[in-house]
Amino acid sequence: MKAGPGEAIRSSCWSENSLSQGTAFAHDGGVNVNLLDLKPQNSALETELHDAFMRVLRSGYFILGPEVERFECALAEFTGAKHALGVSSGTDAILVALMALGIGPGDEVLCPSFTFFATAGCVARVGATPVFVDSCPVCFNIDLRDAARRITPRTKAILPVHLFGQSADMDGVLELAQQHGLRVIEDAAQAMGATYRGKQVGTFGDFGTISFFPTKNLGALGDAGAVVTNDEELFAKAKILRMHGMDPKYFHQVIGGNFRLDALQAAMLSVKLPHFNSYTEARRRNAALYTERLAQLSGVQVAKAGDCGCAKANAEPADARLVLPVAYPHNGHIWNQYTLRVIGAGQRDALRAHLTARGVGSEIYYPLPLHEQACFAHIGYKPDDLPCAHRLAGEVMSLPIYPEIPAEQIEQVCAVIAEFLK
Ligand SMILES: Cc1ncc(COP(=O)(O)O)c(C=O)c1O
Repeated sequence: MKAGPGEAIRSSCWSENSLSQGTAFAHDGGVNVNLLDLKPQNSALETELHDAFMRVLRSGYFILGPEVERFECALAEFTGAKHALGVSSGTDAILVALMALGIGPGDEVLCPSFTFFATAGCVARVGATPVFVDSCPVCFNIDLRDAARRITPRTKAILPVHLFGQSADMDGVLELAQQHGLRVIEDAAQAMGATYRGKQVGTFGDFGTISFFPTKNLGALGDAGAVVTNDEELFAKAKILRMHGMDPKYFHQVIGGNFRLDALQAAMLSVKLPHFNSYTEARRRNAALYTERLAQLSGVQVAKAGDCGCAKANAEPADARLVLPVAYPHNGHIWNQYTLRVIGAGQRDALRAHLTARGVGSEIYYPLPLHEQACFAHIGYKPDDLPCAHRLAGEVMSLPIYPEIPAEQIEQVCAVIAEFLK
């Protein structure tokens, strides 16, 4: 079979947000729009990336060291956090944060069910119990009224996710945390650079955790992640945990792990970080173009932003077939994903099949909420226990929105959707 346009990336990029299911192929009479293409962004920086690679190669310093420290300083400055610590992935960032806060067996951690697996997987890995919380159908983030109902004397922390690049209701999260003495870890894997009332996500709680998986808005050339924190003591704990709990060398104070960041990844990220704001601007332009074009079609409505005390009453405009995502005015959305809701049984899968047949890549983030996953069956949730998360999993679909996608391709995607809605 002839290689498709994303072939080189497909083979190396298997994880969440992978291109393998989302890459489209040109079809007779169709278009050819990839869900994501990492090549234009990296080729624009090829000389700098190459120079950075050679610098690390010649330094002989491949794990942690000066490249990692330089990137950590730049990241702390960018996010506005006091400290940033480079780690091996966004998953390990969550793990390190939970371990530094001493969360373990007997503890419960509130987290959304409608998110990527790592959020809750890490809670279970430290021996604590994830307590799944429903989501807001407008902003897709944790529903804090539902979270409040699920608090018990064992609840130790809340782990909101800033899903698809939009901040959760952080005033609400912090208020709940203060009332009940909870720790706060913000899973900002998909939302580095996003703001809530002008302040960057990840800097509100005890820890913010970031992923630099290649498909994220700041993507490494492999796995990489970071934790950010404003707390000196927690930073020191996280730093020790990153290296097997070692302090000083070969004397282990606590049990940690190998959560170290490679110098090569830090060097690549240092090249890309100064361009981050231009990537965000492009994603915002792309989201605005989708919304402008799609909102003109009959049966399409923009989700009605409430005050994100999670405005369920406005979640489903009457007669809508497609509901477009909305950025709350107080949020700086960074549009890691442009995620639609397709209303009506079977309609989402029908639209996706139509897009695929026409050569348009798309993806479903996420087809099964975490409370329904086999690995959490022993906790005993029923699908209806979190009705919104259950429903979203059947309705959502994400369209290509990467910064370098040509505007004509967005127009083509909209035309293919218009064809489906006729
Ligand atoms: C919400 C969320 N949390 C955590 C992670 C884990 O990040 P990583 O893949 O870098 O381990 C991801 C990655 O896709 C994510 O989307």
